[in-house]
Amino acid sequence: MNEVVERAVERLAPLCGRGCTIGLILGSGLGDYAEKIENKRFVNYSELSGFPQSHVEGHKGRFVIGELFGKTVICMQGRFHYYEGYPQSQIALAVRVMKRLGVEKLLLTNAAGGVNLDFSPGDLMLISDHINFSGSNPLIGPNDDDFGLRFPDQSNVYDKTLREKVRETAESVGISLQEGVYMMFSGPTFESPAEIVFARTVGASAVGMSTVPEAIAATHCGIQTIGISLITNMAAGILDQKLTHEEVQETANQAAQKFSTLVDAIVKDVF
Ligand code: HPA
Repeated sequence: MNEVVERAVERLAPLCGRGCTIGLILGSGLGDYAEKIENKRFVNYSELSGFPQSHVEGHKGRFVIGELFGKTVICMQGRFHYYEGYPQSQIALAVRVMKRLGVEKLLLTNAAGGVNLDFSPGDLMLISDHINFSGSNPLIGPNDDDFGLRFPDQSNVYDKTLREKVRETAESVGISLQEGVYMMFSGPTFESPAEIVFARTVGASAVGMSTVPEAIAATHCGIQTIGISLITNMAAGILDQKLTHEEVQETANQAAQKFSTLVDAIVKDVF
């Protein structure tokens, strides 16, 4: 068993009561959702030895443990990115910590660029599948058999049954959801227009720089996963304008209410 994971579990488990069954990872500009968690307990990543730190503006760097709709959740307010220089195996650590704390269902969220021309900034997209175009994989290295298989199946990373429930729940709270394939690029550059044409050609509906390593680590250890992308901008080359991190954050702020309603509904009715 990984020592960094074990030390983090030792620090976090006493704060989880009878166990945290739900995990949440909040993407760029979406971290404020954690404020809704009741009876919050905080642990900064900096307190966890051997844990990576999160440096991106708009990302806090801590676990938040508490209750939502009577369920105990552990939330990452701020995540680790491959472009920050961490091997993807380090990005997987937090998911493995969640597994050891009892997490059975995980909601991954991100800000993403819209590749599908029918999308608009502010849309929410349920991730149906992903294309790992990052050039790496969190499971590279010796396999930890305590967590899962050497060659894990990837046919149902974003659990089909849960996705059906998310669609129904979204409709019941009046939120329209797009659905599509999320393609991960390493970043930190935004993609080039030619890369976006390529992404569309190979079947992607949205592009981003996160989520895939966590989703792979989660399915590896048997956590059921749902992914939601907030389309913060149309991807490069679609509109005649530059892409900026400020635009990403601004759209995320504007969509915060809708995002929060959807996450509430998922935690309450799907998980
Ligand atoms: N590309 C990659 N990542 C992103 C984008 C994008 O256009 N928007 C938000 N995150």
